Amino acid sequence: MSETKMAESNGLRLLFDEPFYQPVANEVGVFMAAWGRRLPVMLKGPTGCGKTRFLEHMAWRLKRPVVTVACHEDLTSSDLVGRFLIEGDETVWQDGPLTKAVRAGAICYLDEIVEARTDTTVVIHPLTDHRRSLPIEKLGVEITAHPDFMLVISYNPGYQTVLKDLKPSTKQRFVGMNFNYPPADVETRIVMKEAGIDEARARALVAAAGKARNLKEQGLQEVTSTRALIYAGALMVAGLDALEACTVAIINPQTDDPELAEALLEIFRTFFPEQG
Ligand SMILES: Nc1ncnc2c1ncn2[C@@H]1O[C@H](COP(=O)(O)OP(=O)(O)O)[C@@H](O)[C@H]1O
Ligand SMILES: [Mg+2]
Repeated sequence: MSETKMAESNGLRLLFDEPFYQPVANEVGVFMAAWGRRLPVMLKGPTGCGKTRFLEHMAWRLKRPVVTVACHEDLTSSDLVGRFLIEGDETVWQDGPLTKAVRAGAICYLDEIVEARTDTTVVIHPLTDHRRSLPIEKLGVEITAHPDFMLVISYNPGYQTVLKDLKPSTKQRFVGMNFNYPPADVETRIVMKEAGIDEARARALVAAAGKARNLKEQGLQEVTSTRALIYAGALMVAGLDALEACTVAIINPQTDDPELAEALLEIFRTFFPEQG
């Protein structure tokens, strides 16, 4: 799995080496067009299908720093915008990651934005339209975004319940780019490159995943991701038996149900028959 050289300062990451991204369609063209007009972008798709990798690749292409925020249920607007901290007997203002990106002209990537509290989606609204501004209530100011600031969010439509979903009025502020697990040939190339595994075993992993993904109807919440295939391949390269690698990298993390696990193992066994 590749590691990229980067510089990190004040939460802003600048990528020096090209993060490997294998395009599936015209993702790069769409993103470049959105960037050209500084339109906010929403990357939609299941876990482990390449959204984050794509964003890092684009940041590298554009030579812009990235600020990534992994959103979670306790994330508040202050976590994004900033807060006063007590230092000795002084209170000092500290910019949050969103504010840093707005000031520096970075790409701000809010990963899994629906996880965050709804007040966080309210603060991003003025950044998503012609205003391109960020109100900082606690400072009583509204700052205008740097011309190179861009907002990108990711969103996994499979997870959402009616209670926890992005409001249509929020979604409609973004250019929406749909991601999914790539076609078999493309996914094979990705697994080969990222896991460092030979073509035969990468193909077998991808073909098995194709079948395993059909089990979704049987109650699997999440299907086998490209990431899980890469982990399995990497463990095989590290010397694990193929079925053991598939079990620990793909099956165990995916289901707690012994029957579903057995059904998945059966699929992988047919593609890696020489073992177990
Ligand atoms: N199109 C792609 N090109 C290159 N690598 C990919 C691609 N899609 C997925 N990957 C690989 O799969 C892994 C998981 O993708 P990631 O971007 O982290 O998923 P997501 O953000 O959608 O959950 C990446 O680290 C990368 O190794
Ligand atoms: Mg991600």
